[in-house]
Amino acid sequence: MLNMERIPRHVAVVMDGNGRWATKRNLPKMAGHNAGMQAMKEIVKRSSTLGIEHLTVYAFSTENWKRSVEEISGIFSLIVVYVEKELKELHENNVRVKVLGDYSMLPEKSVQSLEKALKTTAGNTGLQFNIALNYGGRDDIRRAVADIAKLAKDGKIDPDDPEAITEQLISDYLWTGIHHADVPDPELIIRTSGEERLSNFLLWQAAYSEFVFSDVLWPDFTPEEYERCIEEYQGRDRRFGGRNK
Ligand code: IPE
Ligand code: IPE
Ligand code: MG
Repeated sequence: MLNMERIPRHVAVVMDGNGRWATKRNLPKMAGHNAGMQAMKEIVKRSSTLGIEHLTVYAFSTENWKRSVEEISGIFSLIVVYVEKELKELHENNVRVKVLGDYSMLPEKSVQSLEKALKTTAGNTGLQFNIALNYGGRDDIRRAVADIAKLAKDGKIDPDDPEAITEQLISDYLWTGIHHADVPDPELIIRTSGEERLSNFLLWQAAYSEFVFSDVLWPDFTPEEYERCIEEYQGRDRRFGGRNK
């Protein structure tokens, strides 16, 4: 049973296995991404119901550009479809959409859809749904370093001052930081499809996250399996380097 007193504030998900799901059925990869989108819809809804504050999904990594043009443009078209179909319901459910990553490199239509979703839901106060798009953990840190270097160059911080470049300052300049989406570090990171790696997701932010791996391929991932993953998280002893007893 889920302990409703110990629901994580922020759950991040590596939605993996769309390709294998399609291949198993002799279907094109896009059929897997389509089915994956349906699964994602249900997880967003359940996250709201459970009172989770932040759900972050890894939708497209900085390394996914290595895939075929057809697959990449198919994934980006799905974003347009998703926003057209789901924005109304997301908005009614008080969900606030944010993007982690530089989405300006996506096709014009996808950029417009995303901006519509961001703008429409900006004032909502329920679940914050963070979509990691063209996101890479190393790129995230690289950008923060560049921003901080600029602060030093402009004389806004003194790099010789040991109090100037703090861990908090670095966090502030990440996509999850106060200058962008303002998301706390995830307590729980779930990865589906049996793969057990981070694949450049939230490297800095995952310092003390709990990892739960599910063998289920993402399109088959149900709200029940989601709750099972959260339950597994609830059984963990989080020590943060200290001692609990
Ligand atoms: C995850 O599914 C979705 C994206 C990376 C966009 P995959 O497409 O990676 O699925 P597999 O790993 O090939 O099964
Ligand atoms: C991670 O999955 C990225 C997303 C889910 C968007 P990948 O399928 O791209 O990761 P690897 O290649 O198996 O590490
Ligand atoms: Mg994969």
